[in-house]
Amino acid sequence: MKVMVIGSGGREHAVVKKLRENPNIETLYVLPGNGGMGDDATCVPIKATDIDGMAAFAAEQKIDFVVVTPDDPLALGAVDRLHSLGIRCFGPDAKAAEIESSKIFAKNLMKKYGIPTARYEVFDCAAEAMNYIKTAPAPMVVKADGLALGKGVFIAQCREEANAAVSSLMEDKIFGKSGEKIIIEEYLQGPEVSVLAFTDGHTLVPMVSSMDHKRIGDGDTGPNTGGMGTIAPNPFYTDAVAKVCMETIYLPTVKAMCAEGRPFKGCLYFGLMLTQDGPKVIEYNCRFGDPETQVVLPLLKSDLLEIMLAVEEERLGEIKVEFSSGAACCVVMASKGYPMEYKTGYEIDLGNVPQMPGVRVYCAGVKEKDGRMVTGGGRVLGVTAAADTLKEAVQRAYAAVAEVSFEGAYYRKDIGKKGIN
Ligand code: AMP
Ligand code: GLY
Repeated sequence: MKVMVIGSGGREHAVVKKLRENPNIETLYVLPGNGGMGDDATCVPIKATDIDGMAAFAAEQKIDFVVVTPDDPLALGAVDRLHSLGIRCFGPDAKAAEIESSKIFAKNLMKKYGIPTARYEVFDCAAEAMNYIKTAPAPMVVKADGLALGKGVFIAQCREEANAAVSSLMEDKIFGKSGEKIIIEEYLQGPEVSVLAFTDGHTLVPMVSSMDHKRIGDGDTGPNTGGMGTIAPNPFYTDAVAKVCMETIYLPTVKAMCAEGRPFKGCLYFGLMLTQDGPKVIEYNCRFGDPETQVVLPLLKSDLLEIMLAVEEERLGEIKVEFSSGAACCVVMASKGYPMEYKTGYEIDLGNVPQMPGVRVYCAGVKEKDGRMVTGGGRVLGVTAAADTLKEAVQRAYAAVAEVSFEGAYYRKDIGKKGIN
């Protein structure tokens, strides 16, 4: 089979490496990929948002199956276009992808179908939003409706901060059209859990749970990032919580999307908060999470391509999806200065990590220069280890991190600590 993966980050590298385990894949392309993926797939310099380019390439190369991983191409209708050419895909069509690309759509869906989430109000006018803020209880959360590179959420501790967030979204338009409409919602508290699930529009199979570490600094301090590390499973996500989530969140969401004429096929990501009133949805994503995928897929025992084909052919209920009972930890190594300004172009030395059992290095912000890997982005590598226990996985991941070097490498020292405690 000829398979193509769309995207260029650590998540895509994890997908590519997992797909590689299937012996029926003769050719694996990644568009555009990055300078660290060359051993696993053929990188093709077509941007993930270039729908015309990817469709033409897929048709020309007679690609059998395409995995569309990032949110942008999904929202832009990559899957719709590929399907119109008769090419099979993994991922939701644009209508279903709206569950992520419009937070207002997602919130209204949850309200209509009684799926637990934070209380909220929608605004398309800054003055009205600020008027509402005058009497709303602080802290509160201000969110851009549209996609904003994961940066469209402001936790406002007081009314002044909430007004400032409204002003930058709606008046300064820092995220352009994405902030023309906003949500102001109730502030929730509790442990956060990420759950990715395969769904073919009818059947839903949750993957092993995980925990992201979004802040740049140890002890969850400093600004938000794209994710500085993950562990799986998430120790807060007990069997009892999983059962409640299945009944009150996962299945109702799948049914709701069907009822709205937008059956969701692909990977549905549930960002959950385990509040005192039970699990609630913080956000949906229409795709694999990054860096959650980097700890979830190493624990998947079943064949990823087989599952993805079953999703596309709506026969997920007929196959077995199995995860190992072990644990995994991913430590993200970033460029000094990230998530603000940073320099790139530094040579990366992996030491003897490639020989370490159970350890995988997923490349994200990596470029190739004269046959060597150099840094090319903020989050550079996701160093992942799998083991029988979480404690062991964390130890192994950090042992591997100690082997890796590049100028200005920064990483959190406490990934997994909250989970182990
Ligand atoms: P999102 O981009 O929607 O994932 O939001 C980013 C982060 O903001 C989440 O991971 C939460 O930690 C936090 N957050 C979002 N919504 C709320 C809320 N209603 N209450 C408390 N924290 C929230
Ligand atoms: N880790 C959060 C996300 O992928 O959006």
